Amino acid sequence: MFRFSLKAALAVSLVAIAVAAAGGVVAATRSSDEEALQPVRQPAGGGIESRVNRLLSRMTVEEKLQQVTLLPDFRFTGDQAEEGEEEVRNGLGAVLSLTDPQRIRELQRIAVEESRLGIPLLFAFDTIHGFRTIFPIPLGTGASFDPQVASDDARYGARESAAVGLKQTYAPMVDVSHEPRWGRISEAAGEDPYLNSVLAAARVKGTQGTDYSDRDRLVASPKHLVAYGEPEAGRDYNTTDLSEQRLRNLYLPPFKAAIDAGADTAMCSFNAINGVPGCGNRYTMTQILKREWDFDGFIESDWTAVAEMRACPPVNPDDVPECGHGVAEDGPGAAALALSSGLDMEMTSTLIRDFGEQLLDEGRISMGRLNDAVRRILRVKFRAGLFENPYSRFQPEETEAEMLRPDAVEAARRAAGRSMVLLKNDGGVLPLDPSRKTAVIGPLADNQHDMLGPWWGRGADEDVVTVLDGIDEQSPGATHAAGCQLSNGEVPFDQEEVPKDRDPEGCTSIDTAEVNAALADAQQVVVAVGETREMSGEANARSTLDLPGRQEELIQAVKASGKPYAVVLFNGRPLALENIVADTPALLEAWFPGVQAGPAVADVVFGKVNPGGKLPVSFPYRVGQVPIYYNHEPTGRPCNKGVKWNSQHRDIPSCGPLFEFGHGLSYTTFEVSNLALSRSTVSRNGSLRASVDVTNTGSRQGDEVVQLYIHDPVASISQPVRRLRGFERVTLDPGQTRTITFTLNKSDFGFYDNRGRFVVEPGRIDVYAGNSSAAEMTESFTVTG
Ligand code: BGC
Repeated sequence: MFRFSLKAALAVSLVAIAVAAAGGVVAATRSSDEEALQPVRQPAGGGIESRVNRLLSRMTVEEKLQQVTLLPDFRFTGDQAEEGEEEVRNGLGAVLSLTDPQRIRELQRIAVEESRLGIPLLFAFDTIHGFRTIFPIPLGTGASFDPQVASDDARYGARESAAVGLKQTYAPMVDVSHEPRWGRISEAAGEDPYLNSVLAAARVKGTQGTDYSDRDRLVASPKHLVAYGEPEAGRDYNTTDLSEQRLRNLYLPPFKAAIDAGADTAMCSFNAINGVPGCGNRYTMTQILKREWDFDGFIESDWTAVAEMRACPPVNPDDVPECGHGVAEDGPGAAALALSSGLDMEMTSTLIRDFGEQLLDEGRISMGRLNDAVRRILRVKFRAGLFENPYSRFQPEETEAEMLRPDAVEAARRAAGRSMVLLKNDGGVLPLDPSRKTAVIGPLADNQHDMLGPWWGRGADEDVVTVLDGIDEQSPGATHAAGCQLSNGEVPFDQEEVPKDRDPEGCTSIDTAEVNAALADAQQVVVAVGETREMSGEANARSTLDLPGRQEELIQAVKASGKPYAVVLFNGRPLALENIVADTPALLEAWFPGVQAGPAVADVVFGKVNPGGKLPVSFPYRVGQVPIYYNHEPTGRPCNKGVKWNSQHRDIPSCGPLFEFGHGLSYTTFEVSNLALSRSTVSRNGSLRASVDVTNTGSRQGDEVVQLYIHDPVASISQPVRRLRGFERVTLDPGQTRTITFTLNKSDFGFYDNRGRFVVEPGRIDVYAGNSSAAEMTESFTVTG
């Protein structure tokens, strides 16, 4: 989102000035060596490691420092264009956020033809849920509980990105989060590490295929290492204090799954855990990722995250635009900390490049570590096939035809339908009958912009089919009233300061006359309410989870008409629906569904698609319950309503959330039964099977997500009351039964302790199966010593 910032530009230029003043060398030295003038073009099959080493041995220190540098798009456009090209000639490592195919091709040509060693650039972009064909936000895809949906999203996103010349995506975002105030909870699969792990692996495979040198593939970069999803108070970038066991049991598993699936790059996070910023954290980057997990790709910093490790000056803090963490005194200190901790490539700020030689001279960084960073970057470039195929397989003028191709658009529609969660459907209001006259009410009904959600890639508002158009297509003659307008609260990129009088929500009054006119002839109503896309995503924390503005009143106005109605929600986080749930017979959670919002909503509302999504996050009654998540540890005084002296909110009627993790209804009904374990005891290295039957007990075909949870009731440290360890989404005809079998082994019933050790403790393990985290059917087995 934060593509361009005057602050960032200023930081970069200040650094450049400082370097120039200090006589720092940025440009690579040109050699007259004949061999060195030849671009490197070793034949494939020469062995990547030997190619890397041969190339590395020919690089000057300046070229190495330039290779670990990653600059954003605005450094290559406008009056910075020439300077940017010079950076490329000097052997720049990578470029982010540039997506103009012509400009990419030109810069790549400069890299391979005019830089001394001809090392190709790596072009990167945040293809988070689509490049041009925008899929549902990842939290929505999480609700699909369907790895195929995540994989399709990544695959089409990669295809479109690669067409313009990109070769790396800063995805998947795999930050488990229990913090719905945080705007970026929209970008991953919610509060559970297992669901996030399965979908992260699917996304990596969708992005990279079996070999990311394929011309339609990208290298994936899981982010943000690590625990960026738990900023205090939900304020983006804020600090996090967490135990070793939580780090390893909750936040690291999706990264491990992504790396195991083949992801060859990773991004470290802005925030600090236990006082150590992500991009200066030797423990997470070097010890865990590189040593324990044998990761041999590279780690890039998040945007100016290296510079942000500097202390701010006591007066005039604006003199150092990126500063704050205070774990380094100055630029050289931040660069030394980052590189020595295991960072390989610095995004946007250029401190490693600018101060690298000085730091080498002073012995504050080692040539061995710098070589290792460069080796990792070159390795990924070789694996990506960039030396053989530095350019897109399409000419710039051909790329537009590669966007929004019918198979991608169809997959986006399917993904959106499979991501929707039917929260409530009293009296079977849904599905509506398309032959009846439908009114579509609400500020998000005739809306293209917000349907794309945060991180819309290069998605264009005009590509979106609105909810109104989708409904009108299936129920012709639909009437419409917005009722009110939400604020997009957007701060233009070129505007540094947020205006103080900015209205963050909008919908301050309801136009009841307009609403009543649209309702007059209607026989049924779809109410489209929620958040704008600017309320979600990076730097968009909210302090309330209510429906913004007076949208609750809008629902009341529809209710007053006495017509059957369903509320469809568009949002990037769990909302606190306490005030509308009682008055609303049917509630459908649609998230931000992407380009095919309208058709997908219509498919579900009219029953062409039977909703089968499940919540990947708990929905609280109200914000004061936050953080509330199903996989919490127990207490000595578990919540028990009606009894004092226990762990509860006195003013909330329930111990749990309003809608629990894993919840989601269907237009048919299901029964999950016959949980059976293949054995009652298992050795610590053994495995067992848990099987369960699922039957469609209703009268139409539908999808159920069978979920398997475990609980370790006696352990050396308190274990979460439930942990998801298996799920499967199945489609069943009326009356049909299927038996689903899950295998459990120590990766399921073991856990990390607070010394970072993976332990498998003997004793009973309870297994629960059902169709949400509230599942009650249970069996137990015993792990023997
Ligand atoms: C975000 C990253 C993103 C990067 C590049 C940062 O502000 O935190 O998630 O990949 O920008 O766009």
